Amino acid sequence: MIVDDEQAARVGLSEIISVWGYETQTAGDGLEALEIAAEFHPTAVVTDVFMPRLDGFGLLNRLREEHPETAVILLTGQGSIEDAVRAVKEEGAFYYFEKPINTRQLSVVLQRAIEQAASRLENTRLRRQLGEYGVFGKLVGNSQVMRQIYTTIEQVASSAVSVLITGESGTGKEVVAQSIHQLSPRASRPFVAINCSAIPESLMESELFGHERGAFTGAIAKREGCFELANTGTLFLDEIAEMPAMLQAKLLRVLEERKVRRLGSAKEVPVDVRVLAATNKDPHEAVRRGEMREDLLYRLNVIHVKLPPLRERREDIPLLTEYMVKELSNRHNRPAKLVSTEVLEIFSRFPWPGNVRELRNVVEHAVIVCDSQRIEKQHLSPQMFDGRSLKNEDSITLPVPISLDEAERQLILKTLIRTNNNKTRAADLLNISLKTLHNKLKAYREENEE
Ligand SMILES: Nc1ncnc2c1ncn2[C@@H]1O[C@H](COP(=O)(O)OP(=O)(O)OP(=O)(O)O)[C@@H](O)[C@H]1O
Ligand SMILES: [Mg+2]
Repeated sequence: MIVDDEQAARVGLSEIISVWGYETQTAGDGLEALEIAAEFHPTAVVTDVFMPRLDGFGLLNRLREEHPETAVILLTGQGSIEDAVRAVKEEGAFYYFEKPINTRQLSVVLQRAIEQAASRLENTRLRRQLGEYGVFGKLVGNSQVMRQIYTTIEQVASSAVSVLITGESGTGKEVVAQSIHQLSPRASRPFVAINCSAIPESLMESELFGHERGAFTGAIAKREGCFELANTGTLFLDEIAEMPAMLQAKLLRVLEERKVRRLGSAKEVPVDVRVLAATNKDPHEAVRRGEMREDLLYRLNVIHVKLPPLRERREDIPLLTEYMVKELSNRHNRPAKLVSTEVLEIFSRFPWPGNVRELRNVVEHAVIVCDSQRIEKQHLSPQMFDGRSLKNEDSITLPVPISLDEAERQLILKTLIRTNNNKTRAADLLNISLKTLHNKLKAYREENEE
């Protein structure tokens, strides 16, 4: 919108600006501008300063209150430059120009104003979406703890600081890592994830830092490590507490020096990598037990995102369930659209030791077996009803080393305890035949008799 009490000036400017491809409106003074703004919702207002009824500064103040998203550009004549400078510094004007106006400059400033207004609008839109649907990108949940986490994600995304993400298995650590990357200026750069517990110790160093041809037996070609692959982007180190101590020390050095050296190479390569790390252990505990180097923890733990277990944010279960039913029905092309109140009540009481991942698995199972629109109790996987099933106390801890036979025996006995010695159910849960189960039990009894 162009506001000027001089008709020739506002019409001329309006013509120039509409040639640039913008939709324009004009007003002869501040009050008229406000009336039009109420209908037209201008993205940017270019206004003269000296005008009858309401001047440019007055208009600026009213627009700040009534249309905070609108960018205001002031056109000043002589005598009001100081005021215009102050208006930009202190009163939220976007820019000021001295007359006569340089249209090339105006075109650049206008474009920037409009881009900025658009990104502010997008932000508002995301915030509103969060308010209405309780969803933040791929993260579903409206609880106070989750909202706090979204705020942290927004705050850390723009910088390159390391973030340590902790939480029980299945609480969404990887989703948080992806969200940070996606909201960061590195979004269009690589996101590389490496799981430190899934890679044998002997290969991990080369995975992380790469190797030259012939660096070790089997290194038939040179290879870039994760740090180089993630260069200019983000590297996600999953299960960081499982990384061998020797490598933790090397990792720390890379983080500090921002350079990597491939195995078998003499040359160091500079890398620009943002590091996110995750663990399902309490990191300070891990340090105390000697599993994690303290100096590495402090290096990674600049920001700590601590994800709550699902049982501590039960208020999110209905919303999560709703989203999962929708998504999984679509994916598997199934009719389920909602869950019965009874099912929702069961979900709300369940301990969910496997957190969101477990809820997702249960919903997926139900979606697949359900032939109607509504998921009922009978569609839930049977292990949800085995007494205190799936609870943490139903897990077994095995010492290492242990023989496979002994591990199997403990698992079988534990399963029988859980099914109240119902052998058919136990065989079912173990996915073995009833006959096999009987044979094994017979063997155990004979061992005991010996
Ligand atoms: N807040 C959430 N909203 C929607 N889906 C979620 C949420 N949190 C987790 N999920 C889903 O749950 C599953 C597990 O999430 P993720 O892999 O991020 O967990 P994790 O904490 O990394 O677990 P682990 O420690 O076992 O690796 C994924 O399918 C993910 O999409
Ligand atoms: Mg994970």
